[in-house]
Amino acid sequence: MRPFEIKKGIYPVRNGEISNGIYWVGAVDWTVKSFHGHTYTTQRGTTYNSYLIVDEKIALVDTVYGPFASEMIEKIKDIVPPEKIDYVIANHVETDHSGAMPALMKLCPKAKVYCTAKCKEGLYRHYYGNWDFQIVRTGDSLKLGKRTLSFLEAPMIHWPDSMFTYCPEEKLLLPNDAFGQHYATSERYNDEVDEAELMDEAAKYYGNILWPLSSLILKKIDEVVKMNIPIEMIAPSHGVIWRKDPMRIVNAYVSWARNETRKKVVVIYETMWGSTGKMARKIVEGITDAGIDVKLVDINQSDRTEVVKEMLSAKGYLIGSSTHDNDMLPALAGFLEFVKGLKPKNRIAAAFGSYGWSGGAVAGIENIIKEAGISLAMPSISFKYVPDQNEMKSCYDFGKEFALKL
Ligand code: FEO
Repeated sequence: MRPFEIKKGIYPVRNGEISNGIYWVGAVDWTVKSFHGHTYTTQRGTTYNSYLIVDEKIALVDTVYGPFASEMIEKIKDIVPPEKIDYVIANHVETDHSGAMPALMKLCPKAKVYCTAKCKEGLYRHYYGNWDFQIVRTGDSLKLGKRTLSFLEAPMIHWPDSMFTYCPEEKLLLPNDAFGQHYATSERYNDEVDEAELMDEAAKYYGNILWPLSSLILKKIDEVVKMNIPIEMIAPSHGVIWRKDPMRIVNAYVSWARNETRKKVVVIYETMWGSTGKMARKIVEGITDAGIDVKLVDINQSDRTEVVKEMLSAKGYLIGSSTHDNDMLPALAGFLEFVKGLKPKNRIAAAFGSYGWSGGAVAGIENIIKEAGISLAMPSISFKYVPDQNEMKSCYDFGKEFALKL
């Protein structure tokens, strides 16, 4: 018997009951346009998903970003008095999921906080709260009544503290950041939104956040598959819930983590007075005439997060810059440093660019390409000042030859 009456949500859109007694009590952040300290542009906003499980015991799985604490608490109040929460499950310490904990814990100070040892350390170092922690490890579980929560550590997916929570009775996986999307919508499920838009956001999320962790992701998916647990719904902590064919996103993750690519080239350049840009456009003509999909990116006119998404599906990268102070231009240099950290595998690349007197940009690009673990597929090309007709023909051939190497 429940010791209190469950209220009907006053705002049904806000309080989505995703399964009997399991409520979405998160927040939609429609207006956020950058994330992770401006490393990620969120053109479609995001959501912070928090899930309230009402059984004989009441558990809240993850909270929301601090500025949205009162929204989450109001939603909880529509369902249960917050002081009735017995357990707070913290799958991940990062502040977009834990920021509301100090405000929440004031309302349910006796609630036990279930998390990994690393998460406990991180939560303490963020909020210095004297909370009742219960450290969990893979295989530990918590009985709520009719339902159970099982825990699966997922270190470095994507922080050392990360874990997944699974509810076997509901066949529900709550994997926090994994399978998420920065995607603000009034809908809560994958079958309610435009699929192409959704997969675009999921790919952007994987490319910009999870790509360097691909080998760990493959191992974790393999571990979950071997556990043979049925999964009918995947409810991440960002974006929509995967209820229709949840394996769709799991299979996409496997493909991205295996670094599977398409025959596609991304040509990325930075130009000073237009010569490198002119070369880039001619290179694109050569690639196009080889029948290969190509995207052209002026790094100063582009959204870096979107460029990384394009790179995730592409086999080949052609990188160009004018020479400045014996090296590439700075916006491209910064971008390539970011790409190096993403550790792309099974890709090929080459460099191009113009120079005035001493050159140096293509050598700098080649160095960083090699440091990123990308294979140099052919010698670079560079031309003095403004490329003449023959040199433009060489650019065309360069693009075509590169495309045929894919
Ligand atoms: Fe790792 Fe959504 O935070």
